[in-house]
Amino acid sequence: MKIGILTSGGDTPGMNAVIWGVFKRASQLGHELYGIRDGWKGLMENDILKLDYDMVKDILPIGGTILGSSRTNPFKREDGVEKIKKTIETNGFDAVIAIGGDDTLGVARKLYDLGLPFVGVPKTIDNDLDATDYTFGFNTAVTIATEALDRLTTTAKSHHRTIVVEIMGRHAGWITLYAGIAGGAHAILIPELPMPMEKVAEIIKKRYESGERWALVAVSEGFEFVEENPDDNEIEKDEFGHVRLEKRGVAQRVAEYLNKKAGIETRHVVLGHVQRGGSPTAYDRVLSVRFGILATELVNNREFGYFPSLQGTKIIKRPLKDAVDHLKVVDEDHIKIAKIIMGIE
Ligand code: F6P
Repeated sequence: MKIGILTSGGDTPGMNAVIWGVFKRASQLGHELYGIRDGWKGLMENDILKLDYDMVKDILPIGGTILGSSRTNPFKREDGVEKIKKTIETNGFDAVIAIGGDDTLGVARKLYDLGLPFVGVPKTIDNDLDATDYTFGFNTAVTIATEALDRLTTTAKSHHRTIVVEIMGRHAGWITLYAGIAGGAHAILIPELPMPMEKVAEIIKKRYESGERWALVAVSEGFEFVEENPDDNEIEKDEFGHVRLEKRGVAQRVAEYLNKKAGIETRHVVLGHVQRGGSPTAYDRVLSVRFGILATELVNNREFGYFPSLQGTKIIKRPLKDAVDHLKVVDEDHIKIAKIIMGIE
């Protein structure tokens, strides 16, 4: 079989490990693998390269994606679907493996519904796909954010300051919550638990009143203050309609409030894309390779319209429609932990 493979959406540590796993299994099963550059863009523009052993032999531990990525939505481009059909036909692809988050898997599902042979692989550092227990990249992002919190602890303590750390997570606060717990943050602000700015100040003030003169606030880029109603129309969006959250400057706003209104000396840090860069953790590498192997076996069995999903300790196949049905936001059990840490439960 001739198999195409693409990586789309925000790059995620572990994407290369998936490609490595796919290559390994595909070669054993006698299939050829073709890389598609820059996600859906490359599939529309017939930007293809044949992958050989030398190209993939060392990529397992390397971050990013050797294929490149983009946030291109073919359903928003003129003749996008027609162009994709033509590329698949011209190259004689028997299947295409699309590695991506809910947007990418949503596109793969629509193309599959139109009769095209797609298999998905779920990825996102945000861990907000409901159809798998964990996505690869999440563990790496949490590890990086936790290390940042550890480092900021010593400087916050030395200067008797509060430091507000902005952590990625578009719709869900998983990275902020996990890193916030692991890194010992005193306030954990996530989209699933909106609160007024005064409440945040109260939590930090209470800590200072207890005798401690420093604090760490972990805030998710998607966190909302209850009294605010930002006008999304004025904020830049990508082709999938997502607001560019880093432009909202949520950490800066918390820090300004604490400085000016609460009289607490505060600095802020935006971790940004540092959380997506560099090598995946061992956990993410293993998950990625396992996903890659099952995706290849699905292709080998001509079981299109599915993706590999982690359920407990097993990797099972699930239909692509499950990947786009629900977002996995932080649940009540985890919200309770955040509240206990903040002393508001
Ligand atoms: O979806 C993954 C993610 O890293 C989000 O956490 C973040 O909001 C977004 O991507 C950033 O997107 P971009 O890399 O396009 O700025």
